[in-house]
Amino acid sequence: METLDAIRKRCSLKNHLSDRPVEPEKLRAVLQAACLAPSARNLQPWRFVVVQGKEAVQSLVDAAIFGPSTVIRQAPVIIVVCARPGDDVTIDGKEYYLFDVGLAVENLLLAATDLGLVTHPIASFNEAALKRLLHIPAEFRVVIVTPLAYPLEGSYDEAAAERLRQRTRRDLKEVAYFNRWEEREPA
Ligand SMILES: Cc1cc2nc3c(=O)[nH]c(=O)nc-3n(C[C@H](O)[C@H](O)[C@H](O)COP(=O)(O)O)c2cc1C
Repeated sequence: METLDAIRKRCSLKNHLSDRPVEPEKLRAVLQAACLAPSARNLQPWRFVVVQGKEAVQSLVDAAIFGPSTVIRQAPVIIVVCARPGDDVTIDGKEYYLFDVGLAVENLLLAATDLGLVTHPIASFNEAALKRLLHIPAEFRVVIVTPLAYPLEGSYDEAAAERLRQRTRRDLKEVAYFNRWEEREPA
């Protein structure tokens, strides 16, 4: 798959996850893609806690994930993305660690798409519970959680097609300016 294809096809579909195991090489490939992201001063502030196995996944989700997102208990793998705020570059008061982690996570999501896997970034979790259960040191923050799974046979394709059809994004005219703020692309 070409990069632009993966960008267009990636979507968040937590309700259509198969429990089919993800091969260790695929898991490794998506983590390696994440680690190839650029970061300020190459500090690579990301850390990933990979939770696998039905029991481990389900008890984690039941204890720490909120509301409708508990459907990710179906996934064979949950990746918990962490970062240490101190491991960052601050420029003009802007802490870049969340930016760096975002780049790594997008790489991860795109690599997963390329490998035929489904993801869904989720921020609605109980951070204290995740940290306690996964022994994450106090100085780290949990930034995002995503399931990593094969698509659920029989329902994924239609759901993905529908999600892509319904996808809403701000028009380029609204977000991209040329030469100066709010100046639109010449016709
Ligand atoms: C930082 C972040 C936090 C998110 N948190 C949640 C969440 O808690 N629950 C959820 O269902 N989706 C969550 N999402 C998924 C977004 O709702 C989704 O990416 C967005 O609607 C665009 O849809 P798409 O990913 O299918 O393109 C989150 C996404 C991001 C990037």
